[in-house]
Amino acid sequence: MNKSAVNSDHFTMADFYDCPEPDLFAKAEPLYHFIDDWRSKKTYTYRRLLKTAAGTRVAVEDEPLHPLRHMIMMASNNYLGLNCRPEVKQAVCDAVQKYGSSMCSAPFLSGTYELLQQLEKKLAHFEHCEEAMVFSTGYQANVGTISALARAKDLVLIDRLAHASVVDGCHLAGCAVRSFKHNDPKSLERLLKATNEKHAGKLVIVEGVFSMDGDRARLPEIVGVAKRYGARILVDEAHGTGVLGPTGGGAVEHFNLHGQVDLVLGTFSKSLASTGGFVAGSRKVINYIRHYARSYIFSASPTPANVAAAHTALTLIEQEPALRDKLWENVRYFHGALKARGFKLFPETPESAIVVIVIGSDKLLRTISREIHEANLFVNSVVYPAVSKNASRLRISLSASHTREDLDQALEILTFIGVKHKVVERGPHENPANSPVCA
Ligand SMILES: Cc1ncc(COP(=O)(O)O)c(C=O)c1O
Repeated sequence: MNKSAVNSDHFTMADFYDCPEPDLFAKAEPLYHFIDDWRSKKTYTYRRLLKTAAGTRVAVEDEPLHPLRHMIMMASNNYLGLNCRPEVKQAVCDAVQKYGSSMCSAPFLSGTYELLQQLEKKLAHFEHCEEAMVFSTGYQANVGTISALARAKDLVLIDRLAHASVVDGCHLAGCAVRSFKHNDPKSLERLLKATNEKHAGKLVIVEGVFSMDGDRARLPEIVGVAKRYGARILVDEAHGTGVLGPTGGGAVEHFNLHGQVDLVLGTFSKSLASTGGFVAGSRKVINYIRHYARSYIFSASPTPANVAAAHTALTLIEQEPALRDKLWENVRYFHGALKARGFKLFPETPESAIVVIVIGSDKLLRTISREIHEANLFVNSVVYPAVSKNASRLRISLSASHTREDLDQALEILTFIGVKHKVVERGPHENPANSPVCA
């Protein structure tokens, strides 16, 4: 297929997953031209090049030789704004001085070090569990945990919108997998009723906060159903940690379910301002996972810098509840203002630090995303396969460190573009190009 054959307006990522030609690499050719055409229309807003830290303002290079864009950052899941805190940066420097840049080994062999062990103890305490273990990413935590525990005779029940790492963990495990309707305990119950006799072990997995929708799991009911059918339950707190609950413990803490959930899993890549992941549970089960999780055994341990950042971020979360208060003040203000301007939001009342504006068609999303980018607002455009086809959306991540000025400028930009493209019915019609952020 030559370049002129691919008009990106007529295709989505779903169209390039496979192709009829036998060569394994043949599908790379049409995708290459699709992306090339998409880029040439300047509506491709992925893999943008950051030239500064992902704080609330960020410098982004559009194209080589193009002047830097100074953008409001609302695409980083830096919910508590800890990635640039001096205490975190200092801890990273100290850890590198002490341990060097890497252990160059898996934790199972020579990659377990004192700071890593201290973090595991701190996480276990934070999650009210006997023990916790750390992986190099949250993705690895899900893949490793699920595949370490589930066998072919077992059944894993997952939400229809489960994160890719949950889905991939099930594939690696080779267990039976069924998905229930999004956040629907009745659908989960129907599945459990229908399959109860056919499988040995059962594991229900939900996200405390769903990553692409920003809604909270109906955890009390889901836990109740799982328990009635003798299923174990794992809650992925990637987007709940630091955000929900009186001490930032996540959805499990928010719903007062400590001790009711078998495994709590999380990532360092959001509120904990680092890279890595963890799972916490009973001592015996964590010990089992340590000895069977392939992503733990066959992958290098997280670097001292990552571990130190997460450790310090966790301490700050414990010491500074005001950070969470500020985050929620921002979430309520921003969500309320978008609603008042006529945006259709999901969920209708804010349940997390994620605000979702569903656009629907990929083509419209591309146009809107480009205009938002040109107005110097950095938000995420989410398309298939991250969400289902025709559910394309703008995904906005709020942070405790956003100022009222950041929020108001972002609102102005979104409203102008939303009205222009009839995503909202009403709103101020001022061109955001006049806003001071649009340098
Ligand atoms: C719900 C959920 N689980 C797991 C992960 C993986 O985390 P990590 O970025 O640490 O690999 C993510 C990341 O986006 C997530 O949203």
